[in-house]
Amino acid sequence: MEDIKQKIQELTDKLNEHNRRYYVNSDPIISDYQYDMMMKELEALEREYPQHKLPDSPTQRVGGFITSKFKQVKHEFPMISLANTYSQEEVTDFDNRLKKSIDGDFEYVCELKYDGLAISLIYENGILTHAITRGDGIVGDDVTANIKTIRTIPLKLVGDYPKNLCIRGEVIMPHSSFLKLNAEKEDAGDQTFANPRNAASGTIKLQNSKEVARRNLDFKPYSVISEESNTSNHYDSLREARKWGFKVSDFMAKCKNINEVFEFIDYWNAHRKELEFDTDGIVVKVNDFALQDELGSTAKVPRWAIAYKFKAEAALTELLSVAYQVGRIGTITPVANLAPVLLAGTTVKRASLHNADIIEELDLHEHDFVYVEKGGEIIPKITGVEVSKRREGSRKIEFPEYCPACSTKLVRNEGEAAHYCPNIKGCLPQIKGRIEHFISRKAMNISTMGEETVSLLVDKDLIKNIADIYTLEYEDLFGLEREFVDEDNNVVRTISLREKSTENLLHSIEESKSRAFYHVLYALGIRHIGETVSKKLTRYFKNIDNIINADFENLIACDEIGDIIAGGIIGYFSDEDNIEIVNRLKSYGLIFSVEDFSSGNNIDTSKLKIDLKDKNVVVSGVFKNFSRDGIKDFLDAAGAKVVSSISSKTDYVIAGENMGPAKLEKAKKLGITVLSEEEVF
Ligand code: IVH
Repeated sequence: MEDIKQKIQELTDKLNEHNRRYYVNSDPIISDYQYDMMMKELEALEREYPQHKLPDSPTQRVGGFITSKFKQVKHEFPMISLANTYSQEEVTDFDNRLKKSIDGDFEYVCELKYDGLAISLIYENGILTHAITRGDGIVGDDVTANIKTIRTIPLKLVGDYPKNLCIRGEVIMPHSSFLKLNAEKEDAGDQTFANPRNAASGTIKLQNSKEVARRNLDFKPYSVISEESNTSNHYDSLREARKWGFKVSDFMAKCKNINEVFEFIDYWNAHRKELEFDTDGIVVKVNDFALQDELGSTAKVPRWAIAYKFKAEAALTELLSVAYQVGRIGTITPVANLAPVLLAGTTVKRASLHNADIIEELDLHEHDFVYVEKGGEIIPKITGVEVSKRREGSRKIEFPEYCPACSTKLVRNEGEAAHYCPNIKGCLPQIKGRIEHFISRKAMNISTMGEETVSLLVDKDLIKNIADIYTLEYEDLFGLEREFVDEDNNVVRTISLREKSTENLLHSIEESKSRAFYHVLYALGIRHIGETVSKKLTRYFKNIDNIINADFENLIACDEIGDIIAGGIIGYFSDEDNIEIVNRLKSYGLIFSVEDFSSGNNIDTSKLKIDLKDKNVVVSGVFKNFSRDGIKDFLDAAGAKVVSSISSKTDYVIAGENMGPAKLEKAKKLGITVLSEEEVF
């Protein structure tokens, strides 16, 4: 037993060390494969001996479901805010005030102001025990399980750390994670986040820490609170924190006077766009702790610090009209059409207004002059109205009560910001939107069809739903023609189905019948089911009937499926029309199952594209269409010798996703042919 305990301790320490090297210091010394193997070993031991699992175990980084709402925890020291200003004069005033109260010279520290959400981390004897949101500054939410998934936050400190320590900082979502998340949300028909800050705070409040882990948040420490500190100033305290395992920003500077502070401000005002995360200003702090104490705080903010906020690049322009777009799941998105204006190098003609609340908050009126800004999003947003330029008698912009496309009364679900058109089956943009989603690249990839052709086919009554696509015949299509114009009546595209293009279209429709199950499931356009979720579902349930027949409990038993996704699936299949569409698609020959050879004896080895008889084959990784055991059975039936490790005797490696890089390297070194799933089956 002692051995097991020691082994668990050893693996925990090693993995935490390698994690820090990889994520904090960017200096890994083992391969991903070795790391994964150690992790698997620890997971297995913890499963068998849960009593020995350590509080800093790295297995917590992958997350799980949180069963209850977050606990409320009181902050030991209140989390106060900062005085904000957009004016350099006010920063000079701040400096003058301090000079009056402080005898002699003093130093400032300048840091980036990270745009995320504040978190207070509590370490007891070097172990992370609590992570609490700011809340109202006095009491916050205990979000420890979610915070533990952030790789740059140490679960256990190293070096000479204080026994009782509080580290405060900002949880942020880097641009790369934000763009990926929003692309996935759009894919799944879900509302996207307006900016990385909202995405970070939305993520930290999730009840599913596995999902938090997947979203790749980061942490930027900005203050060290400890009574046992051996440093006398802020700058050194952050340097110390770096030694304990925190990823402290390199972008901070000690400044001897206010001119140096302005140099820092000017530098980052020009260069902030190059950062991989959002910063909305610079925080200027008195460096010396004793001076900080002497200056003290008002009820809300410290007297020893100030935040200078950058002005976003903005332009003033006229609102021409508001258009209401209907999405494929019926969401109504208001979009402002603007008089063209130059902003940060591009001409802006449109801006997203997101939802009715935003229009209301802006108190937008017809032909108002509005300020547009570019944030994290590609589409700019309206941040304010120049009321002094409002025309007399101009009317308030009212969100429509009825669908702009089909005139059905719109609905708004309790607690949701978006309005929906409930006429799912009769509303033209929704019908077209579903078909456009079905043919898109990640779905059925019917690349010769395109948005305009869909529009043409629906308008000509040739298709009404996704299943109708497979009934199209040459005679229906040949000779169809239409010109498409933009809002200024310029022809942007001409569709004209001649012999070749008709054949190409029918060919890609036919080709799509061999798309793997997970593409097909994704293509159905079920709410909240993006590509990743679709893969999880198809791997777990194996065929469509298992998914259709699954109840809520069965669905959430699948990895990463929570109640919202489960609700989307149940809602979709409880509609008889959808079942009929699936049945029709089945009858046209689309794939609705993951082939699993292990289940039957009637293995058809003629499907194999390569002769593997008497060959030594290694199967590694996760496969899209087959289970690994299924593949092994299949290869067995085809006369191959399936072996577990790569050696000079190996003839082929069949590699799925996530194959360990060390294995791949070994195969390359030995000159072994590595085949993908598609090359074999
Ligand atoms: S220091 C007592 N430093 O900005 C002073 N705050 O507007 C504590 N923030 O609540 C804050 N970057 O969430 C500090 N480098 C930085 C910061 C920073 C972002 C946030 C923090 C704070 C808010 C105040």
